[in-house]
Amino acid sequence: MALTTNALRRYAEVRDFVPRPVRRFLNLAWCLAGYANILTTRFPLRTRWRLIRSFLRVDSNVARAHQPAEMAEIVRWLASRKPGGELFVEAGCWKGGSSCKFSHLCEVMGYKLIIYDSFAGVEAVEESAEMDFSRMYASTRQEVAENLRRYGVAARCELIPGWFSETIARGAPATVAVAYIDCDLAKGTYEVLSGIIGKLSPDGIVFTQDYHIPVVKNLLHDPNTWQSLGVDPPFIQPLCFNLAALTFAPPGAPAKPTPS
Ligand SMILES: C[S@@+](CC[C@H](N)C(=O)[O-])C[C@H]1O[C@@H](n2cnc3c(N)ncnc32)[C@H](O)[C@@H]1O
Repeated sequence: MALTTNALRRYAEVRDFVPRPVRRFLNLAWCLAGYANILTTRFPLRTRWRLIRSFLRVDSNVARAHQPAEMAEIVRWLASRKPGGELFVEAGCWKGGSSCKFSHLCEVMGYKLIIYDSFAGVEAVEESAEMDFSRMYASTRQEVAENLRRYGVAARCELIPGWFSETIARGAPATVAVAYIDCDLAKGTYEVLSGIIGKLSPDGIVFTQDYHIPVVKNLLHDPNTWQSLGVDPPFIQPLCFNLAALTFAPPGAPAKPTPS
């Protein structure tokens, strides 16, 4: 994985010099390779193809700050859950590249997608000198709504603008089946966790796309974090690239991950 990450970094440095058709071909090949895992899930074949097709359409039209393979991992995990009636919470959407994909997944699973974002970029907090994303990834609510309308399933989604401390930290509105946190901050991650932990369904799962950020990783591995949230520490499983899954066991039982 470190090799792939280095290769990606190198490619990013020379991308602007690569002819456009070659760039498009490489991007398509990269996305297809990333989504290949979706074909091995328990979803009906038609659903698997539909997800891959919709995801590729999003990739061609909306900028993203995640890797296709990370989305495939999330699909793989959710394919093993019973569908129906709960919330998928996304905290940090930028232009909605991930949101559009989650909206298709929510359509399959019967979830409602609630998307929280400041729409003012990453909150300016001095957490780490080497990975400071302050004010990066700013977008507008209108832009994300339009992307959801064009490339996602807008009817499944609700957008909640504002800093996490004033929105999700005050509590999720219903039972949460899945949460995806991608805000590049330990502070934001903690605020999201504080709003969802009490509402997480017993087999609920939290994904962080910020596991590569040392302050976030430290927060998640610090027993005090979980003590202050009133739950036992979760089982944390690194998946691919920056993605990790957090699963919580009912009191007394060890947490176990259950991908399909
Ligand atoms: C890396 S981007 C998300 C990328 C997106 N998930 C994707 O895959 O394309 C991080 C997002 O988190 C949001 N964000 C960061 N800190 C926040 C906070 N404290 N409250 C609300 N939104 C925040 C930013 O506005 C930004 O849209």
